[in-house]
Amino acid sequence: MSTTVRWGIIGAGNIARKFAAGIRHAVGAELLGVGSRAREKAEAFGEELSIPRRYGSYEDLAADGDVDAVYVATPHPMHKACAVLCLSAGKAVLCEKPLTTNAAEAREVVDAARRAGVFCMEGMWTRFLPAIVRMRELLAEGAVGEVRMITADFGFHTEWNPEGRLLNPHLAGGGLLDVGVYPISLASMLFGTPRRVTGLAHLGATGVDEQAGIILAYDGGRIAVIATAIRTTTPQDAWILGTEGRIRLHAPWWSSTKITLHRRGEEEKIELPLVGNGYNYEVEEVGRCLAEGLIESPTMPLDESISIMETTDRLRAQWGLKYPME
Ligand SMILES: NC(=O)c1ccc[n+]([C@@H]2O[C@H](COP(=O)([O-])OP(=O)(O)OC[C@H]3O[C@@H](n4cnc5c(N)ncnc54)[C@H](OP(=O)(O)O)[C@@H]3O)[C@@H](O)[C@H]2O)c1
Repeated sequence: MSTTVRWGIIGAGNIARKFAAGIRHAVGAELLGVGSRAREKAEAFGEELSIPRRYGSYEDLAADGDVDAVYVATPHPMHKACAVLCLSAGKAVLCEKPLTTNAAEAREVVDAARRAGVFCMEGMWTRFLPAIVRMRELLAEGAVGEVRMITADFGFHTEWNPEGRLLNPHLAGGGLLDVGVYPISLASMLFGTPRRVTGLAHLGATGVDEQAGIILAYDGGRIAVIATAIRTTTPQDAWILGTEGRIRLHAPWWSSTKITLHRRGEEEKIELPLVGNGYNYEVEEVGRCLAEGLIESPTMPLDESISIMETTDRLRAQWGLKYPME
């Protein structure tokens, strides 16, 4: 593999467009191709975003020997098949969050990656942003003492469109898998796998969770309190609460450029601007891992992605939310 990672995108949709803009700011990455279910769509997307190679199927992209890594940007229920297709073809995979729709599918993807000995990572891009990196450094230095509690929310208002990805059960719609996965992942990063999982959700007219309150409890009494919504905008803040202080990740916390450290009655504001739109950092993480010969990222390990899907499975079981394809 050359030192520049040559990327392909699967699924010419909403997030793929942002990723294609972000990757331009990543060091050591080149956007080579885009694959769509429809040739004309791939052509139009490639034209708009100056992507040289365009494929009329995902299989054609996976078969291109010049592509090193593939970014899977399809709705959640298609992640597994797209990821396995690319891993089987020997392509490194960066798969959009959540890794899959449920833990059983996540295990299939992880098995495929490990069997092939090929790199795979869930695209939890937030973890690689300067604000989160700095927050972790502060926590490691003991800046807030022992972390005891996290409060985080991710809710936004989407217009009513029962066919669209967010509300459509056939596309694994609902707030939990779309946005709830961010605060769950934040809590997982700091606290590990929860011992107890509970929550209440409002399942709307299409049967998916439109909003929910979630509590995750960990060993030693640590707790994460989470709100998630796709029809209601929440403050979009996250707080990391310790025995000797607290850190605020300012809204929108998953792409925050500002944190405030509160301790000993004082406030320290730290500005951490993004280079690019933020999606470039996860691209660089993949490049770093590939250069080091790693098949998973130490910052977003595959077993952790499975554990996060187990948490969302447990919540959905409580809510009676099963998707038609499950
Ligand atoms: N990291 C982030 O900030 C972020 C933000 C938004 C979404 N996401 C994640 O990215 C994924 C895609 O979200 P999105 O908003 O980009 O979705 P989207 O625009 O609705 O769909 C993405 C693309 O998936 C392909 N696709 C394949 N099978 C499909 C099917 N049965 N129905 C509809 N589309 C299908 C289509 O591409 P072709 O027609 O070209 O094949 C479509 O354009 C989700 O898993 C979501 O969680 C991440």
